[in-house]
Amino acid sequence: MKFTFAKPFVPEKGTLVITATEGPELLATGKELDKKSGFALTKAMKAGKFKGKSGQMVSIYAPHNLGVDRLVIAGLGKADELKTKSYETLGGKLYATLAKGHDSTVALILDEVEGCGVDVAERSARVALGAKLRSFRFDKYRTKEKKDAKPTLKALRLLAEEGTKARDLFNEYDKVAEGVFFTRNLVSEPANVIYPASLAKEAKGLKELGVEVTVLGEKEMKKLGMGALLGVGQGSERESKLVVMEWNGLPKGKKQDGGPVAFVGKGVTFDSGGISIKPSAGMEDMKWDMGGSGVVLGLMKALAGRKAKAHVVGIVGLVENMPSGSAQRPGDIVTSMSGQTIEVLNTDAEGRLVLADALWYCQETYKPKIVVDLATLTGAIMVSLGNTIAGLFSNDDELADDLFACGEAVNEKLWRMPMGDDFDKMINSDAADMKNIGGRWGGSITAAQFLKRFVQEKVKWAHLDIAGVTWSSADKPTVPKGGTGFGVRLLDRYIADHHES
Ligand code: BES
Ligand code: MN
Ligand code: ZN
Repeated sequence: MKFTFAKPFVPEKGTLVITATEGPELLATGKELDKKSGFALTKAMKAGKFKGKSGQMVSIYAPHNLGVDRLVIAGLGKADELKTKSYETLGGKLYATLAKGHDSTVALILDEVEGCGVDVAERSARVALGAKLRSFRFDKYRTKEKKDAKPTLKALRLLAEEGTKARDLFNEYDKVAEGVFFTRNLVSEPANVIYPASLAKEAKGLKELGVEVTVLGEKEMKKLGMGALLGVGQGSERESKLVVMEWNGLPKGKKQDGGPVAFVGKGVTFDSGGISIKPSAGMEDMKWDMGGSGVVLGLMKALAGRKAKAHVVGIVGLVENMPSGSAQRPGDIVTSMSGQTIEVLNTDAEGRLVLADALWYCQETYKPKIVVDLATLTGAIMVSLGNTIAGLFSNDDELADDLFACGEAVNEKLWRMPMGDDFDKMINSDAADMKNIGGRWGGSITAAQFLKRFVQEKVKWAHLDIAGVTWSSADKPTVPKGGTGFGVRLLDRYIADHHES
């Protein structure tokens, strides 16, 4: 998708979109066109029961006395409730409505809205971002799709004041969208294509943007004592990897105060469950059990792409969890890099084992002030929060509040979950320092408690359980069904709001 930004004018052909607020209340251009067309707009709004609500749309084909072939009136909702994300939603819904309408270019006039708190340039840029995010398609393996089933829309012209400023803003947002697309592509790829070594190679591609990338193999990890991570991968033919990415966008000589901000991702490129094998129905979903690592890669791409003025480390533990003669057995005891021993009672609770060593390595090597991990960690989080909200666990109220607020702003919602000693006790083991499952109840919380045992003192830590939100079975305004990239925008926003100088 291409986006152009120019001053408002009424085009003489093609499809034109204008906006109206709730009522419905036409805005300046709408009023003018309504008169010129002998009140065709008023009639169409009535006939189409259009109230100007957010997401509502009405089309008029070949309107009388207007040059355009099709006029679309798009609802904005109530003027005083408009936020940046309302404009993203508008862009996304417009894309969905117009993409297959035979037009290759569509123009949108964004009129001034009285009482709207969003800046005019911001409005155009956000509409463009919303449309871009919705335009994602993972269709590289569809060789026989009919041409007319594919979207025709290639460009959106945003007609509003302050076009140059809108373009500058959008260029920045577009880098983040490219990060989101990177993540969506990675989680959509099947496990015969994305496995630890190939995912590591994708990370290496970020070098082009100035990200430092180091890949550790099994030999190096063995030396470091990463028995927890290696145990998960030992049943697979594919070699496990640990990828370390570092983006430093600070001016020379300047340091991130208190240390870098680190993100750690679970990268199980396929989770069969191992010897504690999963039922076959739905097992294909476990190709996206590398979702946490996908977000870390996409985030690094976004930050480097927009040259974020921050020092950020991204680490992903990449393994394939398979049953075989060499696989880890239930009851095995492994020693993690931290020295703590773990009794593996269920080989399907593998994500926490991977993260235990990735987290420890991260803290030992980079002394970060803040660590946020992301993982498709538990089915239980879906029982708690469903498919639109991710679980947030943290040892620090300020960090939790900041992440929560960023989630609200970009519409990637989080909900904080409790932690505490009662849950920690549940993972004590008679045979080792801890066991990797905590019993039937509070499964997401005991998983988080397990991770917390690998967080060093004074490190501010948050864990995002994204099992419910990494894949969507339905289209959303700015997220087509499939891999969502949930987390990239949220964490990019978190860096921008709290760690850029
Ligand atoms: N990758 C799964 C969690 C998951 C389930 C993610 C469904 C996305 C969709 C994880 O490794 C797992 O298997 N967790 C187990 C833990 C249990 C054995 C304690 C679970 O949630 O059932
Ligand atoms: Mn599992
Ligand atoms: Zn898993």
